[in-house]
Amino acid sequence: MILLDGKKVAGEVKAEIAGRVAQRSARGGRVPQLAAVLVGDDGASETYVSHKARACSEVGFLSQVVRLPDTVGERELLCTVAALNADAAVDGFIVQLPLPAHINEHRIIEAINPAKDVDGFHPVNVGRMMLGLPAFVPATPAGIIELLGRYGIETSGRHCVVLGRSHIVGRPVANLLSQKARPGDCTVTLCHSRTQRLKELCRQADIIIAAIGAPGFLRGDMVREGAVVVDVGTTRVPAATRSGFRLAGDVCFDEVAPLCSYISPVPGGVGPMTIVSLLKNTWTACTGENG
Ligand code: GUN
Repeated sequence: MILLDGKKVAGEVKAEIAGRVAQRSARGGRVPQLAAVLVGDDGASETYVSHKARACSEVGFLSQVVRLPDTVGERELLCTVAALNADAAVDGFIVQLPLPAHINEHRIIEAINPAKDVDGFHPVNVGRMMLGLPAFVPATPAGIIELLGRYGIETSGRHCVVLGRSHIVGRPVANLLSQKARPGDCTVTLCHSRTQRLKELCRQADIIIAAIGAPGFLRGDMVREGAVVVDVGTTRVPAATRSGFRLAGDVCFDEVAPLCSYISPVPGGVGPMTIVSLLKNTWTACTGENG
């Protein structure tokens, strides 16, 4: 069994980006700037945004966090989005999700200039990605594809089972893996809460992407020998740690890992790859070059 070491690969990708930033800067070019809008004080969102800001400084990007209280009105949030759209110093920005229930998430996302939508959530980017056109691809699916690619995992003609149909992970990763591309060319089954005979489907999979947010959901008896398993789960569960919690994946690692040819751990698998994908999108937003 080989561990898909996202932390290590992300470090390599960050070093590549840092090199390009230094070169650009030496030629007198402007360094990329990412902005993040953070509404309220959700602990997980705070952590994600601070990781993104730290990654920016590691590669030499500028970053800023726009903090708004969870009582912010939709109109005020739309004004913040408009200001970031208009700010020439900001190459790309994200609005950290989830937003408070009184705010219409779609309305906010649709207000983002697609050319600055480094999360790839705007319908223009979603549509362009579906068509295989140049687009900002959401960071987690892009990170999963990059991880599979960097480990040279053959995907062509393989059966991939994706667990979870979220707009952020399940749907886009299922779409990308079905595209005529490398990695890609998979036969994809997208499973969700209403799927019947789930265990049977999983046992037929060469590759399983688990993205449902249910700790330990994928058990040993659902995985065939030699499968590739990518764990996208990051649920906070109470634990005797300094923070009082630990991150739990969707895969029962102890049962599943011995069966796998490759498996990604939690933490240290997909999470770090997600952050570098966001950096790559920001690089593209700034320079027009591929990340
Ligand atoms: N919430 C969970 N994942 C994400 C993400 O990739 N982007 C944003 N903006 N919010 C999230």
